Amino acid sequence: MENRKIVGLCGSLRKGSYNAMLLKIAGDLLPEEIEFEVVSYDDIPVYNADNDMPEAAERPLSVVKFREALAKADAFIITSPEYNYSIPGGLKNAIDWASRGKDSPLMHKPVALMGATQGMWGTVRMQAAFLPVFTFLNMNPVLQPEVLVAQAKNKFDEQGNLKDEVAIGIIKKKLENLISASRV
Ligand SMILES: Cc1cc2nc3c(=O)[nH]c(=O)nc-3n(C[C@H](O)[C@H](O)[C@H](O)COP(=O)(O)O)c2cc1C
Repeated sequence: MENRKIVGLCGSLRKGSYNAMLLKIAGDLLPEEIEFEVVSYDDIPVYNADNDMPEAAERPLSVVKFREALAKADAFIITSPEYNYSIPGGLKNAIDWASRGKDSPLMHKPVALMGATQGMWGTVRMQAAFLPVFTFLNMNPVLQPEVLVAQAKNKFDEQGNLKDEVAIGIIKKKLENLISASRV
């Protein structure tokens, strides 16, 4: 896994986001030889196909930079809340911008999806909503084990550490599976 890179995307932009904490924890658990970078998308506009020409120069600069950052990834970790039983709009919008063209930086790559929520069901509906997206993009989602952090307020301490050892074990296993998927 030398010179491998994993890019992280977080579905929540809010300060103090549990999903940002989860993404940091996942990044910290990766083996040292794997480069990890969280890529932001908070400056990209709402998708408009008129501005998404095949030539990258036609795209908004923020989108060009976003796609370039994703292109460096061998695999992805996405952590996200569930919004209205689905994928948060901002994250879906960013994925839509990255999805088009034969040079899509998402296409064919492994991805590990994880979620944290204040609610009881651990983002299970958001994760189900992602499956058709991964299918259309011909991505390789690492489906097992599922990382579903419910009642997040009780699971993280004030420094952003996950207090749930069982959940940490599940995250480690998911990352192992992601790394294995990246080797093939
Ligand atoms: C627009 C919106 C919709 C939400 N819908 C859901 C939902 O469908 N299911 C759920 O469990 N929580 C829902 N929540 C609550 C989020 O799970 C909670 O705010 C969570 O902490 C957000 O993640 P973050 O801490 O990473 O920002 C919603 C929150 C917002 C702002």
